[in-house]
Amino acid sequence: MKIAVVGLGYVGLPLSLQFARSCVNVVGIDVDPEKVKLLNNGESYIKHVQQSAIADLIGSGKFSASTDFTRIKEVAAVIICVPTPLNKNREPDLSFILETGRAIAPHLVKGAVVVLESTTYPGTTEEDLCAVLEEGSGLKAGIDFHLAFSPEREDPANEQSKVKQIPKVVGGYTPACLEKAMALYARAIDTLVPVSSCRAAEATKLLENIFRSVNIALVNELKLVYAAMGIDIWEVIEAAKSKPFGFMPFYPGPGLGGHCIPIDPFYLTWKAREYGQHTRFIELAGEINTRMPEHVIHRVADALNSQQKSINGSRILILGLAYKPNVDDERQSPSYVLMDLLQERGAEVAYHDPYVPVIKSTREHPHFAGKESVAWTRSNIQNFDLVLIATNHSSVNYDELAEWARCIVDTRNAMSGMPVAAGKVWKA
Ligand SMILES: NC(=O)c1ccc[n+]([C@@H]2O[C@H](COP(=O)([O-])OP(=O)(O)OC[C@H]3O[C@@H](n4cnc5c(N)ncnc54)[C@H](O)[C@@H]3O)[C@@H](O)[C@H]2O)c1
Repeated sequence: MKIAVVGLGYVGLPLSLQFARSCVNVVGIDVDPEKVKLLNNGESYIKHVQQSAIADLIGSGKFSASTDFTRIKEVAAVIICVPTPLNKNREPDLSFILETGRAIAPHLVKGAVVVLESTTYPGTTEEDLCAVLEEGSGLKAGIDFHLAFSPEREDPANEQSKVKQIPKVVGGYTPACLEKAMALYARAIDTLVPVSSCRAAEATKLLENIFRSVNIALVNELKLVYAAMGIDIWEVIEAAKSKPFGFMPFYPGPGLGGHCIPIDPFYLTWKAREYGQHTRFIELAGEINTRMPEHVIHRVADALNSQQKSINGSRILILGLAYKPNVDDERQSPSYVLMDLLQERGAEVAYHDPYVPVIKSTREHPHFAGKESVAWTRSNIQNFDLVLIATNHSSVNYDELAEWARCIVDTRNAMSGMPVAAGKVWKA
């Protein structure tokens, strides 16, 4: 069998490799010629995707990358894994999905299966994607080709989390579409969870991400409440975790980051309006989570103040640019928001992140493009008035940090248990 995976990013690349490993021939299609070139040379551009895995599968001919959408006519199935961001008005931006639909439609063969994996609001597959596919191909969904939605569940940097072993939810446009999509995924994934429709599958993914967003907001709020009472939220979560049922730990932080949790819930908010429904939990969670960077800045000001210093004129190092530990993904990272807020207040800001040696150009923070990670040396770290831990990568030497830094604001409890002088570490 030969399939195409469109969009070779954090979701599409590992999925392509899993299908290729499962003896399916995979053509990976991406609009970015640089990525395509790197992959065809057997190189990886994602830290947790092993170079050797790509090189082996390219070498065996099971996987190849291309920018050529006419190759869709070679394949029996197309899986779409393109971005679903919010636009500047914080509304869903389906342009990547629709562009992909238009690009593949003219080459779609009769009987092919098309599956959307990008996270989106219920109705996208059956309404928006279906319309562009039918228009561009002249074929009918559910009759001439099969259409389905199957959300990705990716946990970057979790060694235990393997694409093959993560159960996969699948919903079809018709029962026959579901059957075809299940047969496709059964080749590469151990456990499939069929649901009654594409909408149910789309809604499942949103529930999973809204659940995280709301629970993170809850602990972020409790962090502030407990701090006012002189109670450490981290100690409380650790203790609550001992309950063997009915509790799942979530951790506070400097704000939300990544491609999913800060964005996906608002896809539902937007769509819900069409049905006259309000998503109060989502809005409240968004409000609390987006206030976190401001809270951190107040703690930075307090910490500096205790040393008769102000943010204005201080040299501050952000430790960790990626949005979560042990990944190189800094999209939507709260570290950028912290850097902006500190610079606005007159600080001189630098960063250290072992996985982000230099900041690439981003739509949201173009002014940081080209900025380089400060080298991890005693003299460099001692030079900063304050180190702000925004992400707790495990490869960072926190013993050295404890010794070298003059003052530390810790948003991740990374300095817990470290022998440091009293008053040096401020939790935020
Ligand atoms: N990253 C995660 O952990 C994760 C987890 C679950 C779901 N998702 C969802 O999966 C989708 C993809 O996310 P991602 O993190 O892989 O994004 P990504 O930005 O890492 O990758 C998307 C890829 O699609 C390519 N692309 C863009 N437009 C294209 C087009 N018209 N045709 C072909 N290729 C195109 C880009 O060049 C890029 O390589 C999103 O909807 C996201 O919400 C992401």
